[in-house]
Formats: sequence, structure tokens, C-alpha cells
Amino acid sequence: MQQDSFVIRGDICYSETPQSLRLCPDSWLVCLEGHSAGVFPALPEQYANLPVLDCAGSLVTPGLTDLHVHAPQYALRGQGMDLELLDWLNRYIFPEESRYASLDYADQAYRRFVEDVRRGPNTRACVFATVHRPATIRLMDLLEESGLCAMVGKVNMDRNCPDTIREASAAASAQSTRDWLERIEGRYRRTRPILTPRFIPSCTDELMGELGAIQREYGLPVQSHLSENRGEIAWVRELCPGAKHYGDAYHAFGLFGGPACPTIMAHCVYSEGEEAELLKEQNVFIAHCPASNTNLSSGIAPVRRFLQDGLRVGLGSDVAGGTHTSIFKAMADAIQASKLRWRLVDQSLAPLTVREAFYLGTLGGGAFFGKVGSFAPGYEFDALVIDDARYTPQGRMELETRLERTVYLSDERDIRHKFVQGRKIV
Ligand code: GUN
Ligand code: FE
Repeated sequence: MQQDSFVIRGDICYSETPQSLRLCPDSWLVCLEGHSAGVFPALPEQYANLPVLDCAGSLVTPGLTDLHVHAPQYALRGQGMDLELLDWLNRYIFPEESRYASLDYADQAYRRFVEDVRRGPNTRACVFATVHRPATIRLMDLLEESGLCAMVGKVNMDRNCPDTIREASAAASAQSTRDWLERIEGRYRRTRPILTPRFIPSCTDELMGELGAIQREYGLPVQSHLSENRGEIAWVRELCPGAKHYGDAYHAFGLFGGPACPTIMAHCVYSEGEEAELLKEQNVFIAHCPASNTNLSSGIAPVRRFLQDGLRVGLGSDVAGGTHTSIFKAMADAIQASKLRWRLVDQSLAPLTVREAFYLGTLGGGAFFGKVGSFAPGYEFDALVIDDARYTPQGRMELETRLERTVYLSDERDIRHKFVQGRKIV
């Protein structure tokens, strides 16, 4: 019998589109060699010989994807949020990230981060490390060991930060990135590198040019930040007088999506007009990070408009802008933020529904990893089995209501099993 082939019986739900949720009470979910073979009301004869994990009465959902998280900021969660982005970075974040020059410090702190994510509901993450190569490799080793699937970036920054964390030059930053890529070549099965210019204010044009060349040479995906905060956007306008908009400052170096450069841009709180059009044209994924945008008083991204216009959107915790790694929490935060935006800012953009938020945290972000975030046949088998008995009187609620309550109320205590690519990690 195949190790990664089995059947789960339970109350199964997954998104098909932002508005369409498939609800399958007391059904059978088949995993064949790490991929979904579909959900069935009765177990088909051909799968009768597979082992069955009987979770009747429990909720079964796809694993969640955190499209944007800073692992080295985990130790700083829940403090210093009296500031806005640029002051917060200078006052709290850059000094903390400087500590990752010490591999011992990094090892301790990264272990805590990885263990939190492993036990929580996320199965995939796109992660910022720091500029430090050894610490970044340690983080990748720990993520690989955990069984999670992750893309991890050694951060690039060669300007506008303290000496303790600034790379000596564009050439030094590029060389360190190449060395990192050489060192991890062939080392992992589930952990992949992603090119990570921190944001435009941290990277000279020379560095961006070097990173564009590395991107094309290695065919790497890219992650960065875009249009998060008004002060930041004004600064980028000064730094890049030739750019049509903030997004154009990445696009000019070939680091803004397109078929050969899968890209995530975090935030996009103020992306509109030509910038939003370019995001769409280039198929760039937006990582919507509602908790961070609230904590740092950045604003509220127009996610409803992004969905209406067909842009790609997923959710990010943006720890430590956000306080919690759970993407269930990000779903609830996204709904709440959208309600305030609707009430106070723009009555033409209706709040997000629970269905839409669930879509964003599963299939919306999962798509960055390929066929991830659904139980449709052929999708990679990332699944959560959630015992909602602690907060839901069993058998007395509709499945969709149970899912809604799980978005708002569940935590790691309620996760009975968690699978990534068909392997059980909780
Ligand atoms: N922009 C550049 N760096 C950061 C960071 O660490 N967090 C957030 N929220 N925004 C950023
Ligand atoms: Fe961020």
C-alpha cells in the first residue's frame, strides 16, 4: 500500500471560486500519492483497499497559505505598534533583524517560529528571512524538517538602513545571494528559494539590476512590498523620479511578474489605476495583510475591487506587522477590515464574505504554489482535520456555519491532523 495514499472520512469543505464553496457533509476524501483524487459521497470501489482515517464529525479543509511573513520578526510580535511603517522599521525591526548575524540567536528564534507554524493551520508560506546567509539557510533547514512547504528569501538591502544590516554594496549583496543559491542547490524537497529585495527604499538601482539578472539566470520567483503606507509611497516617488508608479520601479528591472517571474507583492493598500492594471497584466499575486495594515495604521486595501477586476489575491500574516501566524485569523481580519472600509471609505465596495475570505486563505494564495488549496482532483494534498466540538455543538449546525465559526474561533488546539503533500505533520 502506498504510504501517501489513504482516505479521510469527515465533513469536507473547499473553495472552487471566491463565491463557490463545495460543502460535502459525511464524505470521503481520497489521497493518492500525495494528491487529491477527489471527494465522494460514498467510497468508490477502486479505493476500497486504502487505509481509512475515520474523522466522522470533524471538519476537513485544505491547508492554509501565508503569502507573506517575516520569520525574524516573530520575537517582536505585539509590541511597538504606536508607530507607522518607516519609523517602526528603524526603531524596532532593523535592530532586531541585525541580531540574526548570530547563528545561535537565529537558531533559537527560528525554532520557535517554525514550531508555531507547524502546529497551526498553515501548510505553506512565503517567508522573508534577513540579509544573513547562514541564518537564512538555518531557517530553510528548520522549515524542511518541519514538513511544511515554504519559499524562503534571503533579504537584499544596500541602502537606507543601519550599517549593522546593510550589505556593503550592490555587488556584495548580489554575490551573497548567488552564494546562498549555490549552497542550497539540491538540499531540499519542500523548501525553495525566492528572490527578496526588501522594498524599493532598501535597494539601489544597481542592486535591482543585479537581482533582475539573477532572477532571469535562475528563474526564481520574487517577493517584495508594494504601496503599503503613504509616507513610503511618497519616498519611493522621490527615490525613483522616472518610475510611473511604485510598481513600475520593480517592473523596470524585470522584477514584477510575467510568465517567467512569478511575483508576490505584499499590501497594495494604495494600488490603483495603472499600478493595479500592471499587477493584473503581470499576474502578480497580492498578499493582503489586514492585521499589519491595521496595526501600523497603513490603511485598508481594496480587496473587493481586486477580486472584481480579476487580480490574484491571497492572505499574509505579515508577522510582526501582524501578531498571529494563523491564516484563519487573517481571514477574520480581512472580513472585519473590509466592513470598516465599506462603512467608512467606499460604499460601492461591499465587505468580503466568509466564503471569499476562506477562498483567499486557501486557493487564492495556494495558487502561487501551483495546484494547492483545493481538494479538486490533481491538487496537492494539504489538509486540516479540525475538531470543532470545543466551540460547536456537534450535529446542530450547518456545515457552512461550522466553517464560519472555525474561521473566527479555532486555534491550534482544535487541529486533529494536518497533512502536507499527503504526509502527516500534526
Ligand atoms: N516594508 C519593508 N520592510 C517591511 C517589513 O519588514 N514589514 C512591513 N510590514 N513592511 C515592510
Ligand atoms: Fe512585510
